[in-house]
Amino acid sequence: MTMKPASELAADPATIDPIEIASRDEIAALQLSRMQWSLRHAYDNVPHYKKAFDDKGVHPDDLKQLSDLGNFPFTTKADLRDNYPFGMFAVPREQVIRIHASSGTTGQPTVVGYTANDIEMWADVVARSMRAAGARKGDIVHISYGYGLFTGGLGAHYGAEKLGCTTIPVSGGMTARQLQLIQDFKPRVIMVTPSYLLNILDEMAAKGISPEETSLEIGVFGAEPWTNEMREQIEQRGHLHAVDIYGLSEVIGPGVANECIETKDGLHIWEDHFYPEIIDPDTGEVLPDGEFGELIFTSLTKEAFPIVRYRTRDLTRLMPGTARTMRRMEKVTGRSDDMLIIKGVNLFPTQIEEILVQIPEVSPHYQLELFKQGNLDELKIHCELAPKAGDDAADSARSKLAEQVKERIGVSVEPVIHEPGSIARSEGKAKRVVDNR
Ligand code: DLL
Repeated sequence: MTMKPASELAADPATIDPIEIASRDEIAALQLSRMQWSLRHAYDNVPHYKKAFDDKGVHPDDLKQLSDLGNFPFTTKADLRDNYPFGMFAVPREQVIRIHASSGTTGQPTVVGYTANDIEMWADVVARSMRAAGARKGDIVHISYGYGLFTGGLGAHYGAEKLGCTTIPVSGGMTARQLQLIQDFKPRVIMVTPSYLLNILDEMAAKGISPEETSLEIGVFGAEPWTNEMREQIEQRGHLHAVDIYGLSEVIGPGVANECIETKDGLHIWEDHFYPEIIDPDTGEVLPDGEFGELIFTSLTKEAFPIVRYRTRDLTRLMPGTARTMRRMEKVTGRSDDMLIIKGVNLFPTQIEEILVQIPEVSPHYQLELFKQGNLDELKIHCELAPKAGDDAADSARSKLAEQVKERIGVSVEPVIHEPGSIARSEGKAKRVVDNR
């Protein structure tokens, strides 16, 4: 199928929620009344918030305008861990109809809960996200985000059903079967991590299937950082529109923010439910729109698990609305805890990705390995030859990669070019960094 221009795939204006395109004054007025409710709800029902507010000498009644939020305390992952498993819930446990949890690779998982209303709201924001991405009622939607405690699969699922789509809950893994189902069921939309989509595209190539022959028109990709350079790769190779969806379990799951297909210029935050701030991660100071820093969220409508000023660790900036009046966040290209310091130079894995996906001799699968040489941290970039690369491609790729990383990031690294198929493939969130120090 020929790829339709994105402008033709934009949501029908009649289907957009009026609040998505309301005036800034209207949005702000709604946010203020909802924020007052949310802070009060958290304070009255969650001992952690009562204590944290009291310790800081603030009370929900002190919030007279949106900017007063800056006086309230932050919430961190450690606070959620300290209240494991159900201590942050603001409603009796019997009203919590769903639990999700983070993978907890670094200790206790973080547990989040939802009331029936929360699940409805979540489905609404995911349906809204999918609509912004160009999906419509009646579409067939293939979901390869993992189903289970991870919010990706079920979050996408309820949103797709809410939009009125024929929803296929495939979950992650069994790549050959993913491809079979794409060929047989002919979905128009796929929802999957960008790294796993690459894996599915490799499977197509191995089976001699051209992505152009499939029914896929739109991919809604998220759950991990991916660059605009990767978007170009995916769109060209995969012959589909690649649209970004963002979210995190602590705030709701997928559907906190989404790009519009016709603009692909950053993600509109569904500000009627999630209030964003950007802070300086070192001082905690609130920064004006346009400046880079750490993204903070306060939920405005959640019942079971209200969250106040949650430190996401994601780095981005806020920008005015374009296709919607709701503000945008720039594509998240890193988390403060992903930052590597190599010989004194700060770098994010996505900076390597930007360079690597533009080198034709290698495929876009990669993994970074940190190791110690003497007292210094060093970085190896493991990647693999593109399937049809020529004889001297490895040497050429190695020198291009080393040179461009040196030139653009200012640090010497050691590229290691493997045979095609050597880098561990992701079935969900890719593991970009292996720490062998
Ligand atoms: O990854 C929710 C999700 C599922 C989002 C499916 C989109 C699609 P967590 O497992 O709690 O939730 O991980 C949240 O993943 O703080 C970011 O660091 C990262 N992340 C999520 N979406 C994006 C994105 C889900 N579009 C953490 N771009 C977040 C960059 C993302 N990073």
